[in-house]
Amino acid sequence: MKYLLGIDLGTSGTRSVLFNPDGQVICAKSAEYPLDQPQNGWAEQDPQDWWEAAIATISHVIKESGVDPRDIVSLGISGQMHGLVMLDEEGEVLRPSIIWADQRTGEECEDITRLVGAERLIEITANPALTGFTASKIMWVKKHQPEIYKKTRHILLPKDYLRYKLTGDFATEVSDASGMQLLDVPKRNWNQEVLDKLGIDKDLLAKVYESPEVTGHISENASRLTGLSQNTLVVGGAGDNAAAAVGTGTVRDGRAFTTIGTSGVVFAHSSKLAIDPKGRVHTFCCAVPGAWHVMGVLQSAGLSKRWLRDTCCEKEIMEAEKIGEDPYVLLDKLAETSPPGANRLIYLPYLMGERTPHLDPDCRGVFFGLSAMHKKADLIRAVMEGVSYGLKDSLDILEEMGVVPEGMLLTGGGAKSFFWRQLLPDILDTPVTTINSAEGPALGVAILAGVGAGVYQSVESACDKLVQPALSFEKDEERVKLYRKYHKLYQSLYPALQQSFKDLSKL
Ligand code: XUL
Repeated sequence: MKYLLGIDLGTSGTRSVLFNPDGQVICAKSAEYPLDQPQNGWAEQDPQDWWEAAIATISHVIKESGVDPRDIVSLGISGQMHGLVMLDEEGEVLRPSIIWADQRTGEECEDITRLVGAERLIEITANPALTGFTASKIMWVKKHQPEIYKKTRHILLPKDYLRYKLTGDFATEVSDASGMQLLDVPKRNWNQEVLDKLGIDKDLLAKVYESPEVTGHISENASRLTGLSQNTLVVGGAGDNAAAAVGTGTVRDGRAFTTIGTSGVVFAHSSKLAIDPKGRVHTFCCAVPGAWHVMGVLQSAGLSKRWLRDTCCEKEIMEAEKIGEDPYVLLDKLAETSPPGANRLIYLPYLMGERTPHLDPDCRGVFFGLSAMHKKADLIRAVMEGVSYGLKDSLDILEEMGVVPEGMLLTGGGAKSFFWRQLLPDILDTPVTTINSAEGPALGVAILAGVGAGVYQSVESACDKLVQPALSFEKDEERVKLYRKYHKLYQSLYPALQQSFKDLSKL
């Protein structure tokens, strides 16, 4: 039997999943690592933590499954996008990775826009300069830590660092490279004009592949550390959202999914290049060769709920531990006791600034309408509703651009929440459907690995075979009407606070 391995390097942890060719999970293992926030709005991680989590989880699934490593024909890596990894001549990490959630690069974004020109930048990279993207992070290191920049010989994205540790190759692929803001997204390769204008040497960047292409195989050292066979192929893989698209079968026009992980995303496949001239949603190359996707991103979706859990829900965490339950299940039960609208409480999920639709690194979270009558249940419900209003903003923009989904699939940690599954149809005003596999990104890159190794003919045909819809959740017209009113009020709050957020960031 031929097996496929999917590795997903997320923000809260790394997950390795071994699949058989029917897409069934043979064995899975996750390992967590910390997120450092050295200053308000900064977010860093140690690439060594990612590598150790990869070694631990890969070796676990090999041992536990009892599968002969020589039968794992191919593997794919999916990863949190945009993070900056800088390596020296010896391939050693020069500084902690500045990850996607980091918002320190407002000034560098202004520099990039001035150097390349706002319109030209969107024409080439399909997106305006964004604090989350890699280019502004490179510019920040260049300006603030020139001694580190001088020693830099290789610039990699998080999952491509893992590839380097597994294979010794410096390679990337189009979907993740799109988020560096150095790629010509229509032409699917590095853009010399942008590189010249920003003064970044192309030799620092990895070779670009399409997502299902083979980029190398396991090195002797990595084989010793992980238990993988040196014959196992490694394919391009994909950024986490492009990987989740494959894992949910979002590989044809009309298909879309929403995911609630640390960030929140509304993603639609597009065989034609579609760009929002206002830059409110991102256009990237997708993992299907020759196609793109459009997506709106919320910086703090699952992160908002995690923040609330960790700051206000100690009692529920302890109770959950006693009964062997996930604390989120108890939070959901509490949220259900609050009525739709959370007793007139609205939450703005801008804990780490916001991308879609505001492109504002300085905005921050808000509870609006807080009253002495509110209980913890209302706060939890308001947080989950606020995140959902943010996702609705993204969906509205996609539709405005003419990318109109025929349905909405649901994946990511949020898809496990029964409460969120009921809430989203009412707020998005569309039914949502879960799929037969909970392993979105890991399954997605395992499929890409299978295509690269010739196990499947194409990404689309593999998805048709392996990915099926599971449960559907319908909307309730009365609640849709109510939430429309709340969403309108939610939308009026950011413009009213925009200047105050700026002022706050300067205090
Ligand atoms: C996408 C984005 C996030 C990260 C983290 O642009 O920044 O979704 O990939 O998961």
